[in-house]
Amino acid sequence: MKALPALVFDEIGEWHEAASSGSMITLETAGLEPREAYRLLAAAVTPRPIAWVTSVGQCGVVNLAPFSSYTFLAYDPPLVGISVGPGTSLLKDTLAHVRTNREFVVNAVTPELVQLVANSSRRYPPEISEAQDLGIELAPCRLVEAPRVAASPISLECVLDRIVELEDTDEHRLVVGHVVMFHISEEIWAGDRIDPLAFTPMGRIGGQLYIRAGEVIRCEPTKDERFG
Ligand SMILES: Cc1cc2nc3c(=O)[nH]c(=O)nc-3n(C[C@H](O)[C@H](O)[C@H](O)COP(=O)(O)O)c2cc1C
Repeated sequence: MKALPALVFDEIGEWHEAASSGSMITLETAGLEPREAYRLLAAAVTPRPIAWVTSVGQCGVVNLAPFSSYTFLAYDPPLVGISVGPGTSLLKDTLAHVRTNREFVVNAVTPELVQLVANSSRRYPPEISEAQDLGIELAPCRLVEAPRVAASPISLECVLDRIVELEDTDEHRLVVGHVVMFHISEEIWAGDRIDPLAFTPMGRIGGQLYIRAGEVIRCEPTKDERFG
């Protein structure tokens, strides 16, 4: 990886290469090895929530796998998105199942679940259920066939909205799920909403590192009459 010199503004507002790069490392992505780009992005776009996805394979095998390239996309209709990368030889089981069944469940991850989450990311063959092998209790869903993880405080039943081909070298697919049902533990339910102080999700940061929800701060924009 070759770092570029940092740019600085001079006194008339023009850019120049700094004599020393100061405290910033500047890396252009053209020419980066894909693995390096992955490591940089995975450490830069953090903390990422983890979608622990249940889906159903052939003969009813329940598949369970974590995906941290995950976010909410829209709310009318409620849409979430997960980026699924290449499998070793075939598609990842989750993508194969979602393509076939057009449904899946996203389960939230709390600190007690994180070791099981990591273990469920192993390369299990499609005929072995991660959930069964790891002794993870499942509970039925209402509108989709895939079950939810019983110990997860939030599960989203999803019907496939679309699969977007990202046209990158590794053929990532953005799986867009339409959330048709929420399951929310009473422990984090504040009568009409999820209590953000009671819900303690784990986030993924670089490599095999995770971050647990910690100090919470409130921060509103200060009033500025120019913008109402
Ligand atoms: C915390 C965590 C997050 C992950 N996020 C992703 C992701 O966003 N996209 C992806 O393709 N793989 C991701 N993986 C790797 C998959 O979980 C792994 O390839 C898994 O074996 C896929 O399982 P499946 O074949 O049963 O679908 C992640 C792994 C871990 C441990």
